[in-house]
Amino acid sequence: MDDVKIGIQYAFQTKNRMTFAVSGTGHCAMETAICNILEPGEKFLVTSPGIWGNRALEIGSRIGAKCYQMNISSEDVVQLSDLKKAIETFKPHVVFICHGDSSTGTLQPLPDITSFLKGLNCIIIVDSVASLGAAPLFMDKWDIDILYSGSQKILNAPPGLSPISFSPKAVKKLKSRKIPVTSFYMDALLIGNYWGCDDEPRKYHHTAPINLVYALREALAILAAETLEKCWERHKTCAKKLWKNLEDMDLVLYVPKEVHRLPSVTTVNIPINCNGTALPLCLRKRFAIDIAGGLGQTAGKVWRIGLMGCNCSAENVSKVTDALRECLDGNFVKSSL
Ligand SMILES: Cc1ncc(COP(=O)(O)O)c(C=O)c1O
Repeated sequence: MDDVKIGIQYAFQTKNRMTFAVSGTGHCAMETAICNILEPGEKFLVTSPGIWGNRALEIGSRIGAKCYQMNISSEDVVQLSDLKKAIETFKPHVVFICHGDSSTGTLQPLPDITSFLKGLNCIIIVDSVASLGAAPLFMDKWDIDILYSGSQKILNAPPGLSPISFSPKAVKKLKSRKIPVTSFYMDALLIGNYWGCDDEPRKYHHTAPINLVYALREALAILAAETLEKCWERHKTCAKKLWKNLEDMDLVLYVPKEVHRLPSVTTVNIPINCNGTALPLCLRKRFAIDIAGGLGQTAGKVWRIGLMGCNCSAENVSKVTDALRECLDGNFVKSSL
């Protein structure tokens, strides 16, 4: 468990003592972040338009917080002028940002957003489930208060144990809560004690899924051996190659500006003459390649191609491009309309 903590501190680029892994998938980390920091009646601003922003909003409203969501189109990222207006209007206690949105394929300009929010009296929660390891992310340098991720994306570990870290500012807010966290299982201070993140002797909280702890330890060790910089570079290089190949096939990427695209998940518009569900079926049946349809606002509009962790290689970029070309060129996916 101590090794896992050190591995997460490296992956998150943080020195936060309160760094551990929650027993559950990315949703569990999202819920842990929000239910610990937000109290009923507090104001919660969600900056992300995709499905993960909607989920965060849902969790916040179940807590009884006053929730607000910025109105951003799903292929776009947060504009600082809009954020400024939202902050002035809502004066939130907590702000939620999804760094890499796997439902839309966007990558938020996180350092710009956090440097704007710096100094304001609000807690910044960042979801990096789909971006950790695929794009630069510096928890301490970028003043993120709560950062969480998942194990089964770029880290390539089994799902079920999710890295999370709390800044000293976030821990201070946890310790001054007016009412206890409603969830005992996700109480960050209690889990933190179990993971040895405070000065107290470790006490049993719940049975750690130790098989997953070993797997996550190995995944973090592999990342550290490659180094974050090389992992970021590999994802960027492969994604750029994929984007070029798709554009050479006259496909249109959903996120227009390259700088706003998430390297690990590429969203591509379903062409007008295509049956959106037939292509993934063709790829699976003929090439044993899985790509996904859209999710939330992008459902029925895009295909989503994931290149993550060990799956992100030049060879796989060529493989998926050739397979796509063959399925699109053959009459397999032409719309019946
Ligand atoms: C950005 C993002 N956040 C949260 C989640 C939820 O993670 P999980 O499915 O592991 O609960 C996902 C899953 O794809 C995701 O991509």
